[in-house]
Amino acid sequence: MMDHSMAGDEGALCAPVDDLGAVVASAFRLFARGVADRRSAFRTPTVATVGADGAPRVRTMVLRGFDAAARRLTLHTDRRGEKIGDIVRMPRVAVHVYDARAAIQIRLGATARLHVDDEVARAAWQRALPASLACYAVDPGPGRSVAAPPAAPVFSEAGFANFAVLAVNFDSLEWLWLHHGGHRRAKFAWTADGGCGASWLVA
Ligand SMILES: Cc1cc2nc3c(=O)[nH]c(=O)nc-3n(C[C@H](O)[C@H](O)[C@H](O)COP(=O)(O)O)c2cc1C
Repeated sequence: MMDHSMAGDEGALCAPVDDLGAVVASAFRLFARGVADRRSAFRTPTVATVGADGAPRVRTMVLRGFDAAARRLTLHTDRRGEKIGDIVRMPRVAVHVYDARAAIQIRLGATARLHVDDEVARAAWQRALPASLACYAVDPGPGRSVAAPPAAPVFSEAGFANFAVLAVNFDSLEWLWLHHGGHRRAKFAWTADGGCGASWLVA
């Protein structure tokens, strides 16, 4: 049974139902929509890494790609950023999105892989708009302490040396739908051979 009363148009798209297969399919559609629709909450997931001190570190990132078959999110970042060291030390990451219009929270457990100066990075650099690549020319790199805010960087091909693609492969997905008729929560976990275990959870 579908209920769109709380979720509006966004809910109609992802209509939470009684079927776990439909739930995970709707979750995948939300990520795909995040890539295409700048207004979607799924456009800007929160990505969590583990810092050198063992503490969690979170930040907003732009979702650049979603491959449902590979269960992979693609993001762009600066290789000089602090999160790069986090991922090199500990590739396990978590991703969080809350879409207020759809009243849906999704949490992913994932493993991140960095692409720097390889074919994946080159293809992404060439596909992206120069305006979205200007930030990679900033000097010194992000997070450095400076006496005053630096001037806005302008696009430069040299910025490619700082450009990284973050490929985030998830192996678990937890879905929570807030609904006045009873919240619903479900968990999906994939094994290395691609098998998927799915179950409802108490919300
Ligand atoms: C709306 C929004 C989108 C952002 N998108 C990205 C992004 O795609 N890639 C990125 O590295 N940082 C992005 N940032 C900046 C990060 O949130 C973070 O401040 C920066 O990457 C430094 O993180 P770090 O010190 O953990 O490396 C974005 C911030 C906001 C507010």
